[in-house]
Amino acid sequence: MTISRREFISAGATAAAGIAVASSASAHTLVPSAPVVPAAPAARPVVIASANGIRGVKTAYEMIVQGADTLDAIIAGVNIQELDPEDQSVGLGGLPNENGVVQLDASCMHGPTKRAGAVGCLEDIATPSLVAKAVMDYTNHIMLVGADARKFAIDMGFKPQNLLTEKSRQDWLRWKARQNANDNWLDHDDDIRIKFTTGTINMNAINAQGDISSVTTTSGIAWKVPGRVGDSPIVGAGQYTDNEVGAAGSTGRGESNIMVCGAFLAVEFMRQGKSPEEALMLVMKRVIEHSEKRLLDPNGRPLFGLTFYAINKKGEYAGACAYEGDMFAVCDARGARVEPCAYLYRKEERPRMPNDA
Ligand code: GLY
Repeated sequence: MTISRREFISAGATAAAGIAVASSASAHTLVPSAPVVPAAPAARPVVIASANGIRGVKTAYEMIVQGADTLDAIIAGVNIQELDPEDQSVGLGGLPNENGVVQLDASCMHGPTKRAGAVGCLEDIATPSLVAKAVMDYTNHIMLVGADARKFAIDMGFKPQNLLTEKSRQDWLRWKARQNANDNWLDHDDDIRIKFTTGTINMNAINAQGDISSVTTTSGIAWKVPGRVGDSPIVGAGQYTDNEVGAAGSTGRGESNIMVCGAFLAVEFMRQGKSPEEALMLVMKRVIEHSEKRLLDPNGRPLFGLTFYAINKKGEYAGACAYEGDMFAVCDARGARVEPCAYLYRKEERPRMPNDA
C-alpha cells in the first residue's frame, strides 16, 4: 500500500497507513512499503538485532509472519527502543553531545525495492528511523542532516519534543563537571566513571519470501562533538541490505566501522559465499587492520567496542565482535532470545579500555 506525500502529512495519514507506532508525543505512522515481485523462498523468516532489541525482534517477527513488510516490521521493532526513555543509546533519553543536546542518526534499506533513507544530527524527533524512511519514501534523496532534516521531519508531520530526559541530563552534568582547560578530546582519563555509550540498535530481517531489510538508529557516541555523525546513518557502514544476498549492521564505535564500510563489506563477503559468521569475523579483522595505533593495545587488540550483525538469504545469521561476551537478539519460529556473538579474543585477553566503567 502506498500513500501520497499529501496524505502522509495530513492528519488522515495515520488512518490511511493503518499501522500506529507506540503512543508518545512523537509517535508517528509507518507507511507500508509497496509490494514487489516475490523473491525466491528463504529457508525461514528471522529477525536479528543488537541485544537491546530483544523486545523489538519479537514485535518485528510477529509482524512479518502476519504479512507485514520487513522494513515496516523492523522499524516498529526499533521504535520500541527509540521511544523508551530508559535506553540511553537511542532516541528519547539518548545521551547528548558535549553541549547537552541530543542529536540522532539513523538509516534504513528496503531490499526488495532497492531503496535507502538516512538522517544525521537530527534534533527533537524521537524516531529518526521513521524520518529516514520518510526520506526514502518521499524524496529523491538518501540522506538529510541537521536543522534541515528536523524541518523536513516537522513538515512531514513528526512532532518535535525535548529528548533530553532528566536522567541523561544528570549524566551529562556529571561528565561535564570532569572537564578541564587541558581537555583535547583525544586524551581521556583512564578512570572515567561516568556512563558512556556507543549504544545504538541495529535490526535486520528476512521473511518467508526472501525479502530483506535493515535499519540502524542511535544517539551516537555520548558527549560527542556537536555535529559528529557516526556510522549508523551511513548506508554501507551502519547497515546495508542486498536483497539477493543478505543484510548487515553494527553497533559500537562508528568511526572504526566507517573506515571499512563494515555492513557493505559483510554483505560482499556473504556474496562471495561466506556464512554470516565468517563474513563478520573477516570484517572485524579488517576493522583492526585499519585501526590507527592509538586505538590498539600493544598486542594489536582494539581498545574500543564494535559489534556486527548479519543475516543471509537462507535465513542464517550471526553476531560478531572482538571480545567474548557480547550477545545479540534473535527471533524466529523458536521465539525471541539472545545468543552469543562470535569473537576474535577470549574475555581474559580484553585490555582495559579508556571508557570502561
Ligand atoms: N555506532 C554508533 C555510533 O558510533 O554513533
